[in-house]
Amino acid sequence: MTGHGHNEAYRAISVTPCCPQIGAEIGNIDLTRPLTDLELAELRRAFTENLVLFFRDQKISFEDHVRLGEYFGPLGAHVGSKTISKTTDDPRVRKFHYDETTPRVSGDKWHTDQSCAAVPPLGSILYNHTLPPNGRGDTIFASMYEAYDALSDRMKTHLEGLTALHDGTRVFGEGTPKSNHPVIARHPESGRKLIYVNREFTTRINDVPEEESAALLSYLIDHCARPEWSYRFRWQPHSIAFWDNRCTHHMAVSDYLPAVRSGYRVQVEGSAPPVAA
Ligand code: SIN
Repeated sequence: MTGHGHNEAYRAISVTPCCPQIGAEIGNIDLTRPLTDLELAELRRAFTENLVLFFRDQKISFEDHVRLGEYFGPLGAHVGSKTISKTTDDPRVRKFHYDETTPRVSGDKWHTDQSCAAVPPLGSILYNHTLPPNGRGDTIFASMYEAYDALSDRMKTHLEGLTALHDGTRVFGEGTPKSNHPVIARHPESGRKLIYVNREFTTRINDVPEEESAALLSYLIDHCARPEWSYRFRWQPHSIAFWDNRCTHHMAVSDYLPAVRSGYRVQVEGSAPPVAA
């Protein structure tokens, strides 16, 4: 089986694209044990080609979760001072638990994780062991490559070279960073161009009048949220989603409280700030 846009076959793992634009389900893999060199090389290729990887029926421990994340880089900490997720006994693993006591579902607006950081995370790996009944609690992912490709040539030219402010304080409160990043970035591994603004964190396109910034941001944020480049993932108990935070947006569908949705997440650190295309 092959991933998006590539013909080279996978020999160790199976890679089944979810839709033409984004996401693939990975099979023939057991994340409760260390991976072979071939499995890891193929997993890395699948990640670059498919942007978000999904795994089913993986009853992983903290140790397994950390090992999977560390194949892709050192694990990092959340930059937010006020977050709904909680620390666990292992500082590298955060608990994402929602029930009748939870004020709201976090991540329920389109975003890329912590784009307010000078170096945002490379990716996040969310494992959910408990899901609400009746197929509630999905997560939707969107490809920012496809969103970029669909812009008109005039709009691409206009946006290239611009930067935007990503403000963490409006999401996570005082003490959370603010950073400027290019509006159009280039992915360090795929080399593809992508839109790098999001609804949750981006507050201002720099060096243009305020009204122009507001109109452009509104257009881009609506454009990025279009279903043409989105995929809605239906969780099952012991599913895992691993997203490339550098080229995707995601949002958690807030349709299940007071039912319980519970799991753990590790965050893989980025190695460099987003680079202008
Ligand atoms: C998040 O925004 O990282 C949470 C995604 C989810 O809970 O589905």
